[in-house]
Amino acid sequence: MNKLCSLTLATALLCAACYSSEKTSTGIGTRVDSVLALMTLDEKIGQLTLFTSDIDVTGPTMRENYKEDIKAGRVGAIFNAYGAAYTRKLQEIAVKETRLHIPLLFGYDVVHGHRTIFPMPLGEAASWDLAAVEKSARVAADEASAEGLHWTFAPMCDIARDPRWGRITEGAGEDVYLGSKIAAARVKGIQGDGVGSLNSVMACVKHFAAYGAAQAGRDYHTTDMSDRVLRETYLPPYKAALDAGAATVMTSFNEIDGVPATGNKYLMTDILRKEWNFTGFVVTDYTSIMEMIPHGIAEDTASAAALALEAGVDMDMQAGFYNDALAALVKAGKLKEGLIDEAVRRILRKKFELGLFDDPYRYSSEQREKETLMSAANLEAARDVARKAIVLLKNDKQLLPLEKDVKKLAVIGPLADARREMIGSWSAAGDWHKASTLLEGVKQAVSAGTQVLYAKGCAIDNDSTQAIAQAVRTAQQADVVILAVGEGAWMTGEAASRASLNIPGVQQRLIEAIYKTGKPVVAVLLNGRPLTIPWLDANIPAIVEAWLPGTMAGQAIADVLFGDYNPSGRLPVTFPRSVGQIPLYYSMKNTGRPMDPNNKYTSKYLDERNDPLYPFGYGLSYTTFSYGPVQVDKQEMTQQDELIVTCTVTNTGARAGKETVQLYLHDVTGSVTRPVRELKGFKQIELAPGASQNVTFKLTAHDLSFYRRDMSFGTEPGKFDVYIGPNARDTQGTAFALR
Ligand code: BGC
Repeated sequence: MNKLCSLTLATALLCAACYSSEKTSTGIGTRVDSVLALMTLDEKIGQLTLFTSDIDVTGPTMRENYKEDIKAGRVGAIFNAYGAAYTRKLQEIAVKETRLHIPLLFGYDVVHGHRTIFPMPLGEAASWDLAAVEKSARVAADEASAEGLHWTFAPMCDIARDPRWGRITEGAGEDVYLGSKIAAARVKGIQGDGVGSLNSVMACVKHFAAYGAAQAGRDYHTTDMSDRVLRETYLPPYKAALDAGAATVMTSFNEIDGVPATGNKYLMTDILRKEWNFTGFVVTDYTSIMEMIPHGIAEDTASAAALALEAGVDMDMQAGFYNDALAALVKAGKLKEGLIDEAVRRILRKKFELGLFDDPYRYSSEQREKETLMSAANLEAARDVARKAIVLLKNDKQLLPLEKDVKKLAVIGPLADARREMIGSWSAAGDWHKASTLLEGVKQAVSAGTQVLYAKGCAIDNDSTQAIAQAVRTAQQADVVILAVGEGAWMTGEAASRASLNIPGVQQRLIEAIYKTGKPVVAVLLNGRPLTIPWLDANIPAIVEAWLPGTMAGQAIADVLFGDYNPSGRLPVTFPRSVGQIPLYYSMKNTGRPMDPNNKYTSKYLDERNDPLYPFGYGLSYTTFSYGPVQVDKQEMTQQDELIVTCTVTNTGARAGKETVQLYLHDVTGSVTRPVRELKGFKQIELAPGASQNVTFKLTAHDLSFYRRDMSFGTEPGKFDVYIGPNARDTQGTAFALR
């Protein structure tokens, strides 16, 4: 027995030596119960409480009253605290100064990198490269765990079809299939060899559920949808993340069908625990228990706390409502203590699985911090993922890639040298001072004889046009202009909804002024969401969507601009022409009056086209690919069959390149209507110039299944169209039937 456990009976039960013979999960169950048996009601409620650490310029700090809460056993977990030394210090308070010595859990929003920052998740999803996505999450978890963290509030699995919603940048975009694959890849990366392995942290699937469907794209707003849409479109990515082993779930801020998610038993118990057999714990999103009062479903602290606990919510983030209300409710006989016990069990179990009862300090390693944080390998990984995320939207007359020995190159625009913006929002412990800018990336890439000129031109979002004239003079001196425009980091993420999706401020004025110089212009977009850029598309010859690329922004963009990396990113979300088209997504339904330009009484706008500016799945390369006819190995399949769908793809250009071959399905008739297209598979292939490859997909009955009229999940016999192509629009297809 160690020194601690000789102190009290309680610590003896927590001591590694006392339970090391029981490493199985049943063993954990017994140990959890033995700890629970020692706890007072207040100590139990403390384990259900998560409070924040503050972060100031020197790093994380802790409010004195929260320290007192830790000592009194009123808090079981802390978020926004990181750093080996700092987490160790806080852990010592819990382990040495509380009655039961139960270790704290440390959580943090490690969303797209911890110190080494990767592209915003939406950008990363544009890589369509599951290995790259997993790698980025792995690096993030490796760094985070070295700093004493046990838990990240990621991945965000919210399907988002409204780019006005600023948080679209935190997810994988609009699609169920791609979103599910990426959610699973992120969990695999975050949890690595599993909860308890030293360089992993627990994942937290958020925001459950359907937060991405906030009305009108306004953050925190109401979500309302049929159970069919919920199950068919919004739930699958959360489920995929849980199937990949995610340890925890976070509720969402929105209400759904009149009940805020945090008080929603249908979501938190019926679906999550009963249907999906989820055994981890559920945490609220921030003060969402408290927010049930303004929502209008709870009238005071006690009723809000009871509603959340009874719905199946285990941990209260930051509201302190469980601490304030649960004990009195139990004592008044209004709440069963057994419900609290269940929640405590789920949380303690994770603390055991993490190995914190063996060694509460095992993740706080200054040695690992030194070896891991922003290592050369991590920076290289961030550069690689960032360039894979870049989408080439337009490239007339092969303006790109640029020569490295252009005589004079002008880099212009408010995002050209905007270091802070490069790491985007939710940038964890990332230090923006260490990020590279596009201007720096270009300077590093060009040959010694090239002169690189720079002008800012205007701010990101104010209305001063003063500096535009200077930028025009700079452009006039150059052979080629790289124009970096878009959004600031603060314009995407939480509470960053926009009613306009134009490039903000007076940037459009700057763009038009530079365009008028007649110089060849390459527009580089740095932003977190689809923007409405029809003017750019009509006038600027080359457009590169770089998103907010992270620490290695400059190098990654330069890799693409100068052809060291042949762009391979594909849009994970539709780019509309105008805000009025939203929601606009490829897997729409057909209507009874499909658009016919010659018939007024069909489904369309008087003043806008129906189709997007750039479709889902779209992206160009410096080479070109052609697609042969789509073939199926049988005209008719049964429930038991596998249908083989093939297509020959050829690199018809002069460079080696990567193509993302996409397969879409259309169920022609059903007991309920089906989308015009649904992604059901994709493959990335690398082809040398002139080379061809037969790309093969296997479809099973599962791929043809959907929620039928009676809400059972399965197939219906009938006709299907299957399409293959480089995006959701430019496909070729054939037909088959399911018997
Ligand atoms: C966000 C969550 C985040 C939490 C903790 C909330 O405001 O909605 O996504 O995990 O804060 O920082």
